[in-house]
Amino acid sequence: MNMWDVLRTRSHVPYSGQPDMCIAVGHDGTWHPGVRIENASFPLTISATQAALFGCISEGAQPVAILVPPGASVDAALAFGYPAQTVASPRGRFADVRIHVSDPEPHFGRLKARAVVPNSAFPVVALLQTDSGWVSGVNIETADWQAGLCAERVALAKAVSHGLGSPVRWHIHAFTGDFISPCGACRQVMAEFNQRADVVMHHPDGSRSRHTAAQFLPFSFNGHILRK
Ligand code: THU
Repeated sequence: MNMWDVLRTRSHVPYSGQPDMCIAVGHDGTWHPGVRIENASFPLTISATQAALFGCISEGAQPVAILVPPGASVDAALAFGYPAQTVASPRGRFADVRIHVSDPEPHFGRLKARAVVPNSAFPVVALLQTDSGWVSGVNIETADWQAGLCAERVALAKAVSHGLGSPVRWHIHAFTGDFISPCGACRQVMAEFNQRADVVMHHPDGSRSRHTAAQFLPFSFNGHILRK
């Protein structure tokens, strides 16, 4: 099957029905897929470009180009400052982003340096378990503050773009401050996928607290009735 057709089916577009996808190429030749991930709350939608670029960066690869399917706009890629290339039938292999996690703790220190935090100097690492395994995420800030994503959403963008299924468990860690807690946007994005998922917060002082995604967003707006 054409890679674009694979990514079209991975797009989470229950509200618009309009899939979008691209592939970020890393400096080391690795390929990182990105698909559009809509949210019932419009602005929390993750673009295919964000998913691909941030997935690439969070894997420790520096993006050098973005591949887009025929007919797709290259504007988003250019807005992030990367050259875009239209490719009809991409031939390559996606990076395997799954990691083995038995104890989350050692992964936090290992992944910290991948966070891109020029503004906040506040690195965050998220580990996300789905039925198909674990992926990591770090927060990535961009020149345009609004286009950045938290560690949780980078992990989710990777899981969805790689076709790994919905979240089952989240582990989140920050290195400074007295308490780590997912932001409102991440709570809504967690709720979009699985309100029953466990969320374990690993606080900077070494303590932990555990909740479900539903507990983080009581009385939430639920987009299910809007889905096509
Ligand atoms: N941040 C996360 O990545 N996850 C959280 O749970 C809280 C906040 C990031 C976003 C931004 O890069 C920085 O921390 C400050 O808000």
